[in-house]
Amino acid sequence: MAIKLALAVFMAAITGISADQTSATAPSLVTFIFGDSLTEVGNNNYLPYSLARSDFPFYGIDYINKKPTGRFTNGRTIGDIISEKLGIPSPPPYLSLNPTDDTILKGVNYASGGAGILNDTGLYFIQRMSFDDQIDYFENTTKVIKAKIGEQAANKLLNEAIYFIGMGSNDYINNFLQPFLPDAQQYTPDEFLAILNSKLAEQFTRLYLLGARKMVFHGLGPLGCIPSQRAKSSRNQCLHQVNEWVLQFNSKVQKLINVLNIKLKKAQLMFADTYQDVLDLVDNPSKYGFKVSNTSCCNVDTTVGGLCLSNAKVCKNRKEYVFWDAFHPSDAANAVLADRFFSKMFATNGSVAFAPGHMG
Ligand SMILES: *[C@@H]1O[C@H](CO)[C@@H](O)[C@H](O)[C@H]1NC(C)=O
Ligand SMILES: *[C@@H]1O[C@H](CO)[C@@H](O)[C@H](O)[C@H]1NC(C)=O
Ligand SMILES: *[C@@H]1O[C@H](CO)[C@@H](O)[C@H](O)[C@H]1NC(C)=O
Ligand SMILES: *[C@@H]1O[C@H](CO)[C@@H](O)[C@H](O)[C@H]1NC(C)=O
Repeated sequence: MAIKLALAVFMAAITGISADQTSATAPSLVTFIFGDSLTEVGNNNYLPYSLARSDFPFYGIDYINKKPTGRFTNGRTIGDIISEKLGIPSPPPYLSLNPTDDTILKGVNYASGGAGILNDTGLYFIQRMSFDDQIDYFENTTKVIKAKIGEQAANKLLNEAIYFIGMGSNDYINNFLQPFLPDAQQYTPDEFLAILNSKLAEQFTRLYLLGARKMVFHGLGPLGCIPSQRAKSSRNQCLHQVNEWVLQFNSKVQKLINVLNIKLKKAQLMFADTYQDVLDLVDNPSKYGFKVSNTSCCNVDTTVGGLCLSNAKVCKNRKEYVFWDAFHPSDAANAVLADRFFSKMFATNGSVAFAPGHMG
């Protein structure tokens, strides 16, 4: 079915406007984005001491004007591509805005490289906005919106907006899986997961109380297969144990979301399961037109975060690589993943899949 029609149906279901209304005078969809380096669009550029920054070449080499922007990839993030598909601009980084700017009415991106569900995740990046920090900033945004358009219109805007949340990768990669950090020494995998889960329950609830209803949580990919983790194995293989922990995390969050959908009135939380899509891309790169999925396109700093070295050597054909650096997918891989993500928002027969619960 035509993507335009699918979009109209999707927008109708999530905005409460009928499909024929959407075509002409639809108020555009508002999105608020929370996350880590997989979704950041430049907040950390404003954190002078942060080591989780990517505002240097050759990050952005395939982005507009070939300029680094603070995105942790050579081109677009998955969020950028989803925004394109929704026909809206990708929301700007919160720290780039004057907090009272009118543009906040159209959506904001709070994502910050190195961030986690837990406050102490990514500690060694020195500066990053944890999920709690991001919600603090969002709370500020809700106050400004209320001051601008009044309580009632603001509540409507906040209830109808879509909230994309991608968190948890750093709680493993840059916290629990670092043997020298306290969380790794202190907790068993089950205890750590329980802590993440209860913190996340608090964070979802806090967003709900601030007006969020339609929240899409982006589940974790097979972190054991990213280049930085493979490099820890003797033969550059995926780390099976890490992938097991990720699957347990995903399954626990999915259950949490089911519970919250019952507990929180009118909440429409959704779990977007992308694990298998990423794994398929890694296992069968040629199926999607890629050649290499077991190492990064750029040469990386193996000590801090697996980012490309500044002015690193980059691979000849960036479209052939699933991974740009040792952590983040390339623009070409993000395009494939965004397609999969987006198509899951629609049932194949045109009915809308944006219903509470599970997607994927
Ligand atoms: C989170 O960590 C920051 C330092 O990065 C600290 O200033 C803040 O008080 C912590 N917040 C909580 C709730 O623990
Ligand atoms: C919060 O919003 C106020 C305007 O209401 C602004 O002056 C302030 O700087 C904002 N705080 C942050 C941390 O962005
Ligand atoms: C990646 O996989 C290819 C085979 O598909 C192999 O030839 C190559 O050595 C591997 N690279 C690394 C870094 O393991
Ligand atoms: C479309 O598919 C959904 C889920 O597969 C099903 O519940 C619904 O009844 C279908 N609608 C029509 C019109 O066939």
